[in-house]
Amino acid sequence: MFDSTRIKLTAWYLTIIMTVSFFFSFVIYRGLMTEVDRISRMERFRLESYHFGYRMIKPAFLDPEVIGLVKKRITVTLVAVNGIILVFSGGLGYFLAGKTLRPIAEMVKEQNRFITDASHELRTPLTSIKTAVEVGLKDPKLDLANAKKIIKENLIEINKLKSLSDGLLQLAQMKSSHQIAKHVKIQVKKIIDAAVSRVAPIALEKNISIIRSAGNHEITGDFDSLVDMVVILLDNSIKYSFSKSKIKINARQEKRSLLLTVNDYGIGIDKSDIPHIFDRFYRAGSARKKIGSGGYGLGLSIAKKIAESHNATISISSKINKGTTATVVFHLT
Ligand SMILES: Nc1ncnc2c1ncn2[C@@H]1O[C@H](COP(=O)(O)OP(=O)(O)OP(=O)(O)O)[C@@H](O)[C@H]1O
Ligand SMILES: [Mg+2]
Repeated sequence: MFDSTRIKLTAWYLTIIMTVSFFFSFVIYRGLMTEVDRISRMERFRLESYHFGYRMIKPAFLDPEVIGLVKKRITVTLVAVNGIILVFSGGLGYFLAGKTLRPIAEMVKEQNRFITDASHELRTPLTSIKTAVEVGLKDPKLDLANAKKIIKENLIEINKLKSLSDGLLQLAQMKSSHQIAKHVKIQVKKIIDAAVSRVAPIALEKNISIIRSAGNHEITGDFDSLVDMVVILLDNSIKYSFSKSKIKINARQEKRSLLLTVNDYGIGIDKSDIPHIFDRFYRAGSARKKIGSGGYGLGLSIAKKIAESHNATISISSKINKGTTATVVFHLT
């Protein structure tokens, strides 16, 4: 599709350029021809005046063959100039059309990838719900207890689906509005407090304590998205840490930057996985196998988008079986 649209766009560029070029060539051609005819008429008149004795000095004789040759030369030159414009603007048009279309093509490709990934992820829980319901319906001896069990299992899958669709929606919304609209001054401490209270129940479930330390630093941004970002980082730390461990969350200023770090002593991430963890739907092998905690690998890609929309950078350093540190660097203005 990209190639055919590129050719079509080039054809449009060419049509416009060549129409202008032909128009001017025609005007130039007409002008020059009129001028040549006028000169040859004038010379003929002068010659006749000389022959009839009205003129003393004999004017130069303009051979009609030479005039014909001049006309031919003008025509050939104009045709050649148009040919050169055609070839040159064809090449340039093709190049420019490619440059114009590339970002659009990339966007379409990215959107298709997004849809494919999302449908692929949606298929697994949907298939498992469908199978469970079908098996239950076909079973003539299905009693209330077993029916309840099926419903309960399906509810787990439905909750997973809901969190997946929430994540996808958040990603799609962040994609469409790269820049977050609301940018107000916020105390980092308040962001941390709000995020910690949101993850408190799951931390409690695993007996994990969250230690926070933050001064009175302020950043500009959107409160809700920043809380979402910190929740994602804390959620990962809780999910990929062992019971009864600790998580530290800290905010400190370094020169003109504010560093927000979330530090855990969990399972860590393999070196080979680190370059991919911000990719959509990527889950490191260790996370999938060792803990088997639910998740779709969307958290960090959302966190990255939120950081980017705040002109901040996010990075993760980790050592397997030692722990992980996520760092968000905000540029203070
Ligand atoms: N603190 C951490 N400790 C160990 N591994 C981590 C940590 N944070 C991220 N990871 C690894 O990075 C992967 C991507 O993280 P991300 O938050 O994007 O997805 P997820 O947690 O698997 O799923 P979701 O966030 O969508 O529920 C995780 O699957 C895990 O392998
Ligand atoms: Mg996560």
